[in-house]
Amino acid sequence: MAKRRKLVVGNWKMNGRLTSGLTLAKDLADKALAERPLSYDLVICPPASLLWPVAETIMGSPVLLGAQDCHRANHGAYTGDISAGMLADLGCRYVILGHSERRNGHGETGAEVAAKVTAGHLAGLTTIVCVGETQDQRMSGKTEEVITEQITSSLPDKYQVSSLVIAYEPVWAIGSGEQPEVGVVRQVNKLIRKVLGSVGEVVQVLYGGSVAPQNAESLFAEPEIDGVLVGAASLNSDGFWAIAEKARLY
Ligand code: 13P
Repeated sequence: MAKRRKLVVGNWKMNGRLTSGLTLAKDLADKALAERPLSYDLVICPPASLLWPVAETIMGSPVLLGAQDCHRANHGAYTGDISAGMLADLGCRYVILGHSERRNGHGETGAEVAAKVTAGHLAGLTTIVCVGETQDQRMSGKTEEVITEQITSSLPDKYQVSSLVIAYEPVWAIGSGEQPEVGVVRQVNKLIRKVLGSVGEVVQVLYGGSVAPQNAESLFAEPEIDGVLVGAASLNSDGFWAIAEKARLY
């Protein structure tokens, strides 16, 4: 079995204006250019408002572009939405889907996420599907059940295996400074592979939740963790680069 490549993804969420966003993107592009070729994949997911200017800024560098959501349809009367095809048109290679901030804040169901995965794959995007339990679910011993249900419901019957990434993001670890032990992430990532079945060993399974320069290395060192999905710490180029550079070691 070929070794899975590490993947480092920055999710800017609803942060960044033209000047700050382009400065951050340019800093990362310069750092990545100086180190190329990178032995891991490095992706930034700015808000929709910055996708095109960031695409222009990182063009020609090893930094890849991702978006934070897409619609299930390719085009049509969906005010305020953006299709996967439109994202691909702007140079996106990745799209984050089913983030807990969308499942909880926008009532996104597993079926909705599954439809978006299909849309993303049809547009040629790699979809990063997020799953994770809440604090209550964790405390009541429901983590395995919740993760199994989310994976099962959030994937369509047929999908492009090579275009699928899963991110385990415990809801309680997002933005809290708290993290599960690496051993716990290992167990959940193994469970995710088991639920994926025969393709489980080829799909990259990431961890997300309060990833920072000081805790990134122990995550990359774990063979079951194929990379990280970083929120707040991806908004600072030195900090995000410090995380990314740890991936180089594994
Ligand atoms: P933080 O890294 O800010 O905890 O956010 C994690 C996250 O939600 C990434 O998608």
